[in-house]
Amino acid sequence: MRILVTGGAGFIGSHIVDTYLAAGHDVCVVDNLSTGFRENVNPAASFVECDICSDKIEKVFAQHKPQVVNHLAAQMDVRRSLESPVFDADSNILGSIRLLECCVKHQADKFIFASTGGAIYGEPETLPAAETCEPRPLCHYGVSKYCAEQYVQLYSRLYDLDYTVLRFANVYGPRQNPHGEAGVCAIFILQMIKGAQPILYGHGEPLRDYVYVEDVARANLLALEMGSGEIINLGTARGTSVRAVYDAIKSILSYGGEPILKPRRVGEVDRVYLANRRAKEALGWQPEVDLNEGLRRTAAQIGDAARRS
Ligand SMILES: NC(=O)c1ccc[n+]([C@@H]2O[C@H](COP(=O)([O-])OP(=O)(O)OC[C@H]3O[C@@H](n4cnc5c(N)ncnc54)[C@H](O)[C@@H]3O)[C@@H](O)[C@H]2O)c1
Repeated sequence: MRILVTGGAGFIGSHIVDTYLAAGHDVCVVDNLSTGFRENVNPAASFVECDICSDKIEKVFAQHKPQVVNHLAAQMDVRRSLESPVFDADSNILGSIRLLECCVKHQADKFIFASTGGAIYGEPETLPAAETCEPRPLCHYGVSKYCAEQYVQLYSRLYDLDYTVLRFANVYGPRQNPHGEAGVCAIFILQMIKGAQPILYGHGEPLRDYVYVEDVARANLLALEMGSGEIINLGTARGTSVRAVYDAIKSILSYGGEPILKPRRVGEVDRVYLANRRAKEALGWQPEVDLNEGLRRTAAQIGDAARRS
């Protein structure tokens, strides 16, 4: 299959690209390298440095003629969305519409959309949050992703463009940027390696659902053939406190320090973890890598990178 992966130089996108290539697909990556890295892109994929909001994107479609578009390129930082809501909407809503327009014009068959289960539901009334929970985002990023989902469904109704929306939980694993604002696992690992003191917001009490990146990539492979017209959570159905993640990493790295405890920040939810029954039914998917094993693999990669730099 010819597949266009937007955001394929990023953390999750680069793993999806690797998985698609390993399965024998022809992959073109589009990325503006704003938060991604050229070295993340598998050399077997073609790469176009391009912003999804620029006119150049149309040429990429004309040349590559993708059958499937997997759209991950996004402004994905909750804090930045609160500070720059217009930038967030430009990237996540207008960027998605541009791609959907290109899909129709160049007759792509399917659109796979990377959405968020962590930010769309807000504080869910029932946990684990199922896809039927009413979306009540507490940040602009959650709204822009939800809005883009609506456009994906609109293009399906209007133009018969098939889709699968995947609402990721908190994805972690190798290549997550430890210098970014998001991704506590990578951030804590690097801070502990450097002997710095990690900050636990919400005094470490907020519950999140940590899903390993290779499990997410496998779901994106399954979504090439399955999950037609579905919105599907990708999570573990288990809530883990930030403190428990901190303690697990502390033990893996034999870190002797203590964390700094601070109150929860605006826009951050208290408790969210995602039901995954629909993923089992629609994709035959369930997570395989448990948190301790996933954190060990992540710590090994970040440790190697820190030693090399
Ligand atoms: N990391 C998570 O836990 C998580 C959770 C839920 C959803 N998601 C979604 O998964 C996707 C990938 O997230 P990630 O964690 O890999 O982040 P990331 O920042 O590593 O990847 C995003 C990639 O998109 C590129 N990009 C951003 N804006 C672009 C634009 N306008 N044009 C072209 N390229 C652009 C960046 O350079 C980067 O390579 C995002 O859509 C994000 O919203 C991530």
